[in-house]
Amino acid sequence: MSADDPIYLDHNATTPLLPDVVDAMLPYLHEHFGNPSSRHLYGRRTHDAIERARTEVAALIGSDPDEIIFTSGGTEANNLAIRGATARASRRRIVTSTVEHPATARPASWMLGAASTCTRDRGEVYQ
Ligand SMILES: Cc1ncc(COP(=O)(O)O)c(C=O)c1O
Repeated sequence: MSADDPIYLDHNATTPLLPDVVDAMLPYLHEHFGNPSSRHLYGRRTHDAIERARTEVAALIGSDPDEIIFTSGGTEANNLAIRGATARASRRRIVTSTVEHPATARPASWMLGAASTCTRDRGEVYQ
């Protein structure tokens, strides 16, 4: 970054990592790259690290580890949450604003089309 660059204000889209985070991640990018679903040593090491991270995140926010689901990013997380929560017939109402990011607006629109019991109200409420 040079002094002539504009000030970066889009940290909700992407942000530089703290050096401590980079240090914690590097071993899993270089040495411990195993697929955590694989049963060999490389996979088990990665699996164990993910489960440790899941336990630490759960402790930070006071949840059970099995309530922590890691995703690749915001779009996947929003789809999982919206489609998952509305899959049950008793939870068919989503309230959004008109300025939602497409990662939220699109799964909400999908729900509107996929569930015959859903209706749109004033362009903001899907139920
Ligand atoms: C508010 C908001 N939601 C969702 C997303 C999508 O996140 P991702 O690119 O990680 O899928 C973004 C990305 O800019 C965002 O700003």
